[in-house]
Amino acid sequence: MSSAAYFTHKGISFPIKELTEESISYVENEFQVLDDDVFNVAYPKSGTNWMAEILGLIRYYGDPSWVRSLSLFQRTPWIETVHGLQVALKSPPPRLLSTHLQSQLFPKSFLRSKAKVIYTLRNPKDVLVSHYHFSKIFKLWKDPGTLEDLLEEFLTGNVPFGSWFDHVKGWIQMKDRDNFFFITYEELQQDLRGSVERICHFLGKELNSQQIDSVVENASFQKMKDNKMSNFTELSEKYMDHKKGKLLRKGICGDWKNHLTVAQSEHFDRVYQENMQGMNMTFPWD
Ligand code: A3P
Repeated sequence: MSSAAYFTHKGISFPIKELTEESISYVENEFQVLDDDVFNVAYPKSGTNWMAEILGLIRYYGDPSWVRSLSLFQRTPWIETVHGLQVALKSPPPRLLSTHLQSQLFPKSFLRSKAKVIYTLRNPKDVLVSHYHFSKIFKLWKDPGTLEDLLEEFLTGNVPFGSWFDHVKGWIQMKDRDNFFFITYEELQQDLRGSVERICHFLGKELNSQQIDSVVENASFQKMKDNKMSNFTELSEKYMDHKKGKLLRKGICGDWKNHLTVAQSEHFDRVYQENMQGMNMTFPWD
């Protein structure tokens, strides 16, 4: 049986293991963002680790040595976790930092800085399905039981890091800032090379064609799945049940069609429309 449990901070659920009220508040109010920080921001299960790999590869001009030799949790620490925060505070600049936090809990000092944010978002139905499978193996998260049960929790936002709708609506408000860039998991899938080029442009990094090829090759699903520094296999049994599944599970778009019934999908669509109306944006899944 899983011992996972959540606490609530400012109306949002967080896993009690690895996160605390103090670590989250510190990040919001005291964390000093540096001008050369690059933040990898995503709602959980939207491609956070994929983007971390891409950014790690871009940093070293496509050379995979860094992402193959240093743990993801050291390279791109999650600032809201107790351990990740300590790593981040000790990391020499320029830092690559990850977070699943909603925008209202993001470091306030970001607004006075030139730090860059890359926000990755994904079809929420695929996020739901990915969450469902991950929660069966990741011991910080509650096992939701059936997908039907998780569907309701997901749509009401009673899941780790809160509502997908709030997350996306909050972050997308930053879309006109020069130091904010957003991209979808679907775009990464459809055109990884073009996406890497756009990310490099945003970061002001000039990679030649071969270096871009190397980023694309080493960020592939199979290469990442085999990279023990990025695939979560370094996590002990306390955190993850490796016998039951993997972080890199399927890595495709539209897997929700294999999981949701027509009625569940239509219900999802109704809640989606209610929540997203007035956003005036279209995403690849709309
Ligand atoms: P699936 O469960 O649908 O396979 P996160 O990193 O935010 O937890 O997201 C995990 C999802 O990203 C998983 O989706 C995982 O397979 C997918 N993913 C991770 N690395 C990937 C890669 N290199 N290419 C495609 N998908 C990847």
